Amino acid sequence: MIILRTINDVCRYVSEQRDHGASVGLVPTMGALHEGHISLVEKSVSENTVTVVSVFVNPTQFNNPADLASYPRKEEDDIRLLAAAGASAVFVPSVEEIYPGGTEVQEPHVFDLGMAAEVMEGKYRPGHFQGVAQIVSKLFRIVMPDRAYFGEKDFQQIAVIRNMIKSEGIDVDIVACPIKRADDGLALSSRNALLSPEERKVAPEIHAALKDSVEYSFSHSVQATHDTVVERINAIPHLDVEYFEIVDARTLAAIDEWEESPWVVGCITVYCGKVRLIDNIAYRLPK
Ligand code: PAF
Repeated sequence: MIILRTINDVCRYVSEQRDHGASVGLVPTMGALHEGHISLVEKSVSENTVTVVSVFVNPTQFNNPADLASYPRKEEDDIRLLAAAGASAVFVPSVEEIYPGGTEVQEPHVFDLGMAAEVMEGKYRPGHFQGVAQIVSKLFRIVMPDRAYFGEKDFQQIAVIRNMIKSEGIDVDIVACPIKRADDGLALSSRNALLSPEERKVAPEIHAALKDSVEYSFSHSVQATHDTVVERINAIPHLDVEYFEIVDARTLAAIDEWEESPWVVGCITVYCGKVRLIDNIAYRLPK
């Protein structure tokens, strides 16, 4: 596996590979890699000649400076894991390489991300999706992948990125990959490393509440299903629901009745102590 630190080096590497007829998969990450990321890399390796993984903690998508400062960084471990997973190249740029002159001074382009970016994470993390669109579009323009791989834990992010490529006219296949969970059900996330042992013990209750609510939803209304999840989670010490929305997965608009969409997903964000965890569950899937 080759380690690339500059945009020029990535462009040269990818163009050489393309000259040899390679197809290119891109796995954008912020590092502190876990099995969820590795599953994306393995899928890309199985579907492309070359897999480029980016490891970059993107400052412009953090609306909270403390969150950016505490985000876990494990470059050496990441490089070792990626080599073992069969990645062809890892792109580990500096902030200066991606944002020459700094992130503040630039006149940012405003992306048209549609309504999908206004709700849920968009409401609670103002500017977050503009930052995601900024870095992901840059990576797409640098690597020009055939396919790009994202985890469904960030269900809303995938919808927003699909809107971004449409409005920016970027030609890439977005491949959504299933959530990876620990044995106790907790969705794998780089942020899990920030949980205290006590918090880690209760965090799986988020998925447990969501999972049990699927059965409940077959005989209860959307509102009752929403409330049972929120009440159950909020009753557990250390856990505090920021939002839970039951939405039409195609538009991310909140629904009032199950019949409103053939594809319904519940998206949740819960503070576990100071750590912000997200998860989601499908209530209805298209046949
Ligand atoms: O999902 C993430 O880790 C980040 O939002 C992404 C897509 C790598 C952009 O920084």
